[in-house]
Amino acid sequence: MEKPALTICRDADQLAETAVDFITRQASAAIAQRGRFSIALTGGSTPGETYRRWAHRHDPRGTDWTKTYFFFGDERWVRHDDERSNYKLAQETLLAPAAIAPDHVFAMPTDLPTPREAAEHYAATLQNFFAGDDPLPVIDLVLLGLGEDGHVASLFPGAASLAVDDSPVTWSPPGTLPPSVDRVTLTYPAINAARQVLFLVSGGRKARPFADVWLGRAARDVRPAVGVRPTSGGLAWLVDAAAASEIAR
Ligand code: 6PG
Repeated sequence: MEKPALTICRDADQLAETAVDFITRQASAAIAQRGRFSIALTGGSTPGETYRRWAHRHDPRGTDWTKTYFFFGDERWVRHDDERSNYKLAQETLLAPAAIAPDHVFAMPTDLPTPREAAEHYAATLQNFFAGDDPLPVIDLVLLGLGEDGHVASLFPGAASLAVDDSPVTWSPPGTLPPSVDRVTLTYPAINAARQVLFLVSGGRKARPFADVWLGRAARDVRPAVGVRPTSGGLAWLVDAAAASEIAR
């Protein structure tokens, strides 16, 4: 793995602006090199501002939406119109404002009988879209947040999902943080197959878990974000000053 890159931003606003710069650069490069850009979106409260700004960036650095394809890193086991849904967040802040064509959006299904079936279904969706990538999908950019307990996507501390290595997607019972619902999530192998992973981390409540992960002072089972180590892709962290307050620079 290349050395992870760390950018510390003044505050959440600067983090969102920097994130959009980063994402649009990745999009342009992917489209120039391979004709399309695939991104896995993250959920939680941090990425909303980034999505809003991305949707509304109409300058020459804007993204060619006709060549951009949206996936999800994880989803809560609720309907897509539920306030807790990661799809709903993305829909309201990015996909609808940017008028993304529905056939460019690959939501994790939450209307199947069980999260296990949804995980299997989404694995097939990925395998179909990334058919040339054997055996794992190679997503151009995977966005991730960091949970207060160090979880990433829906890979929770001590969970069985951490050990799944035979599928790009799995499911999980709830972690200890809200919302307390089952999840569907990319696995480590899928995240680590990405061309680029970008963490967005904001706020003082993330200071301890971020320091644990960045300084390598916790095990993967305790702080699952430790397990994000792209095999041949890049890893970048955008962290605001409050979240970076526990690392000495
Ligand atoms: C989810 C996520 C999750 C999130 C972190 C950080 O569905 O909850 O995708 O991994 O990124 O929990 O969330 P916040 O930004 O809300 O702190």
